[in-house]
Amino acid sequence: MSRDFVPFALERMMSVWENQVDYNLSESGVVPVTTEELVQDPNLIEDLLTTGLNYPQSNGTLELRENIAALYPGATPDNIIVTTGAAQANFTTLWTLMEPDDEIVVMLPNYMQIWGIAKNFGLKLKTFALTEELNWAADVEELDRSVTDRTKLIAVCNPNNPSGHIMTPEEMDAVVSAADRAGAWLMADEVYAGAERVVEEPTPSFWGRYDKVLAMGSMSKAYGLPGLRLGWVVAPPTTAEQIWARQDYVTIGNTMLANILAAHALSPEVRPRLLARTRDYIQRGYKNFERWAQRHDGLFSWVPPQAAAIVFVRYHVEASSTELCERLIHEHSTYVVPGDHFGLDGHMRISFGHPEDYLLEGLDRVAAVIESAR
Ligand SMILES: Cc1ncc(COP(=O)(O)O)c(C=O)c1O
Repeated sequence: MSRDFVPFALERMMSVWENQVDYNLSESGVVPVTTEELVQDPNLIEDLLTTGLNYPQSNGTLELRENIAALYPGATPDNIIVTTGAAQANFTTLWTLMEPDDEIVVMLPNYMQIWGIAKNFGLKLKTFALTEELNWAADVEELDRSVTDRTKLIAVCNPNNPSGHIMTPEEMDAVVSAADRAGAWLMADEVYAGAERVVEEPTPSFWGRYDKVLAMGSMSKAYGLPGLRLGWVVAPPTTAEQIWARQDYVTIGNTMLANILAAHALSPEVRPRLLARTRDYIQRGYKNFERWAQRHDGLFSWVPPQAAAIVFVRYHVEASSTELCERLIHEHSTYVVPGDHFGLDGHMRISFGHPEDYLLEGLDRVAAVIESAR
């Protein structure tokens, strides 16, 4: 049966506008790391210049998979498939595990990739909410109602995009119990782990809490390297093999340079430096956002994000978020993501991982468009 294709509205709008506008406050990561910042070791420069640009092993080089596995208790390189961003990890994993009419339960609000894939694959889609009034805590009762013995997979995003919420141990336990009761897969998109604002410790993974967990990670957010287009899935070895078999048809594998640079970035010598850089942008950026917003009383309300370089604000005018954001692009050359793109109108996702002057000028333009809609 053919069905209408559901486009990925957020990514399409981003790819069209993020490099066009003067002030791009749409990105959920911080200012990207340059190659020069990443590669400071002269031996590595020499290695990069003399390495043949061959295909690396298509599930990722052993060195890279070892460095990734070291981040997950009990994981070995056999648990890891390196992908073209977490985007491909999510896609190929769903392709591997789900058949049309299988039931999936997805957390909302959410980066809507899994939601859209579910629609396009003809899955039965149910949701459960993170609730703004409860500081974006998970509605565990709704989760328990949505998950039944027909549920094949539960998809969560922790820390959450767009709210920046980090699940408490109790919320994580509730998700694991729901998955366990149903015998369902638990797919955890954890690309913002390591980009915490309010706590020092990285957000713990779901990996190791249950035997049917798939944990997605990425170089894009916590490490500031989205242009490597390198992510991964951590899965039980037989499932990892099945995902790899599908990847052979999609991208074959990631590039040689991305494998080398990601392995370097995740090495014990370099990783702390990159994480500290990201946290520094997040700390300073959020303070600048907060100071600015306090001077524009009544424009927005928001729950302070616990992680990621984004704040999901509720704006206080009656207008559709898509309309406001389109006006912002066309009249003020500034781009923030409309709440519509996360399944929640009346909101905007604003990124703050920018230098102060750039952020403040972009925010002033956001204020101008909201004021004009009053
Ligand atoms: C929750 C979530 N998952 C996956 C992705 C895609 O990440 P990647 O750049 O690793 O493909 C994003 C990007 O914004 C995201 O927010």
